[in-house]
Amino acid sequence: MRTLSVALSDRSYDIHIGPNLLDRVQLITDRLPTAQAAVVSNTIVAPLYLARVTESLRAAGIRVTEIVLPDGESHKNWETLNTIFDGLLANRCDRSTTIVALGGGVIGDLAGFAAATYQRGVPFIQIPTTLLAQVDSSVGGKTGINHPRGKNMIGAFWQPKVVLAGTDTLATLPDRELSAGLAEVIKYGLIRDLPFLEWIEANLDRLMARDADALAYAIERSCANKAEVVAGDERETAKDNGRALLNLGHTFGHAIETGIGYGEWLHGEAVAAGMVMAAELSNRLGWLNRADVERVCSVLARARLPVVGASLGPDRYLDLMGHDKKVIAGRLRLVLLKRLGEATTWADAPPGEIRAAIDACCA
Ligand code: NAD
Ligand code: GLY
Repeated sequence: MRTLSVALSDRSYDIHIGPNLLDRVQLITDRLPTAQAAVVSNTIVAPLYLARVTESLRAAGIRVTEIVLPDGESHKNWETLNTIFDGLLANRCDRSTTIVALGGGVIGDLAGFAAATYQRGVPFIQIPTTLLAQVDSSVGGKTGINHPRGKNMIGAFWQPKVVLAGTDTLATLPDRELSAGLAEVIKYGLIRDLPFLEWIEANLDRLMARDADALAYAIERSCANKAEVVAGDERETAKDNGRALLNLGHTFGHAIETGIGYGEWLHGEAVAAGMVMAAELSNRLGWLNRADVERVCSVLARARLPVVGASLGPDRYLDLMGHDKKVIAGRLRLVLLKRLGEATTWADAPPGEIRAAIDACCA
């Protein structure tokens, strides 16, 4: 097991990465203020891993409530959030109950938002079971749900008490989901860690073949990058170049997810196509050279990710992007690449260039 820490003063916490962490119940019980937990999962993950967690918790004397939600991005909404509250209330969970998210980013975001708001906030633990959740969504405390008009539009910052990234759970992950997680791994290399990008390029075949050492290293290095960024700008309030950099490709990608309908494109797939658009626009602004844009496309394509955007048309993209959380005082602040391994926030991209970049990257 490797352990990293997210340094947030009294809200600091550990990220444990390694095989068979679901069986190491003490990593959870050590963080519970009382002997009560509610484990939130979904209909895909629960049959695979829920009993492993709840049985060992019960054996350790913890009163456990199980809440199993429908699967998928299309359920990341108020109705499903309310199902969590129904389960908590029906089981008389009090404000010392710790909510444990067991699943991918959708479960983590939903359960985390429930933890942030149930009885004005209860403790929260993340047990991410997708690559995407292990390298990104379980770390940093962003929680929330989608609105039909915009992705992740309602939510709260609520940090977990501990993150357990059990790498053996990735064995059951479908190939398409593994690729989606790799999009976020590649993102860290692109925005701030050129040596990591080079390592990914050299080791992509091992990652795709689920080599345990390669995956563990990619998760650790991704989490180290994320922890550093989050520690520097927890609530994404930095005017420039803070936590927002983690959103490379996301403003374009969120437009795809919202425009096509939640769940059609996986989040990581939309981010991949969005990162190509961001690279294309960076080239048009004179920053990235053409060979580097091709390099971005090549590493994403080798990870079996889309490098061509959904054909919504530039007007629809721009309309949807205008609703993104990256709009501040009416100005769209994009994350672009100064060079490979160095991103920047940029609010001055001419709309004509944004439109041209979208056009160039869509079918
Ligand atoms: P997901 O949660 O939908 O999981 C993908 C699929 O894999 C689902 O069908 C899930 O049930 C299944 N699954 C999960 N673990 C499995 C396992 N071990 N074996 C087999 N199947 C398994 O999607 P995701 O890619 O994990 O997360 C995407 C979500 O995360 C999006 O809603 C996105 O907005 C959010 N996100 C949040 C943050 C954040 O900082 N909070 C960051 C990035 C993404
Ligand atoms: N995934 C972007 C962030 O956590 O800020």
